[in-house]
Amino acid sequence: MPKKKKTTVNFGVIGLGMGRYHLEGYLKAPNCNLIGIADIDENRLNDCKNRYGIENAFKDYHDLLALKELDAVSVALPNYLHKPVSIDALNAGKHVMVEKPMALNAAEGQEMLETAKKQGLILMLHFNNRYRGDIQMIKKFVDAGEFGDIYYAKTGWVRRRGVPGAGSWFSNKKLSGGGPLIDLGVHVIDMTMYMMGCPKPVAVSGCAVQAFPEYSKYGTFDVEDFASAYIRFENGATMAVEVSWAQNCPSEKQFSEIYGTKAGASLSPLVIWTEQNGILTDIEPKSLRGISQFEHFADCILNKKTPISSAQDGVTMMKILDAIYASSELKREVVIKWE
Ligand SMILES: NC(=O)c1ccc[n+]([C@@H]2O[C@H](COP(=O)([O-])OP(=O)(O)OC[C@H]3O[C@@H](n4cnc5c(N)ncnc54)[C@H](O)[C@@H]3O)[C@@H](O)[C@H]2O)c1
Repeated sequence: MPKKKKTTVNFGVIGLGMGRYHLEGYLKAPNCNLIGIADIDENRLNDCKNRYGIENAFKDYHDLLALKELDAVSVALPNYLHKPVSIDALNAGKHVMVEKPMALNAAEGQEMLETAKKQGLILMLHFNNRYRGDIQMIKKFVDAGEFGDIYYAKTGWVRRRGVPGAGSWFSNKKLSGGGPLIDLGVHVIDMTMYMMGCPKPVAVSGCAVQAFPEYSKYGTFDVEDFASAYIRFENGATMAVEVSWAQNCPSEKQFSEIYGTKAGASLSPLVIWTEQNGILTDIEPKSLRGISQFEHFADCILNKKTPISSAQDGVTMMKILDAIYASSELKREVVIKWE
């Protein structure tokens, strides 16, 4: 008798801060079974175990990886653990969805990508914004050629006062890799590049500064609290970026705008600016259903598909971030190297 095709994937989640969102995503998705969790924090572990009725709950993630029936894990740990834990999981034969940023730098990301390749497993990035309804909608218009050639974009995520866990791993460069650039910039740069059709970044000019040193009273705070950058792409397009955890600005704001020869767009809310029959027209698309990243990850595993947010996308992002930090240090434009 031919073997019956597997229709569900067994998942585990490592790290139960943001990981709780992953856990709930797997519980809701029809092609996912959540079978285990791991966190060194016993309170978080027991709370999730009891609240969601999860059978396998471990303080040591190696015990989760040792479950034979486990197919894949989410790695939702502090940034410095993304590489070692993802590599452990891949070497244990498990597919991995890793939180953003992929790692502390591009070299780490590349090592993770190569491990996944060697093991023949999927390494997906949790670039959750790509899966949003409004972003998917713009992508549809872009792919249909409705924007013409996209030659410019600007994006940002600024906060008046919004430092995540000052004094925790977030503000410790060795543990986080950086401040709002690697924390928030990674989201807005990635989603904007995605809407532009993923052009190849070739050079960057950037500046990362600490304008609010008083946050160090909470503990180590050796990262920037503001960064700006100008990214050049191989196709001639450019992107301006601005991110902050603290800035004397009106209030928190996340924005993304793309400009093409036939149309431009802004979000959120989503509006497309174009010209129809010689008349300037604003389009406000109505149906904005997103995609479940968790269902998509399982679908990629079951049907051997490349994820919408792949390991290569993660490495590309890390190359941009590395170049912005390097440009800030060197006070000049930095060329991004591609083999
Ligand atoms: N995609 C998004 O929108 C989004 C939002 C928030 C955070 N994140 C990312 O998620 C990751 C985690 O961030 P967070 O806000 O949940 O941080 P957090 O500090 O709240 O949670 C991290 C968890 O990992 C656990 N942990 C630490 N070391 C461990 C180990 N060795 N083994 C098992 N568990 C361990 C901690 O006990 C904690 O519960 C970061 O990479 C962050 O950038 C992404």
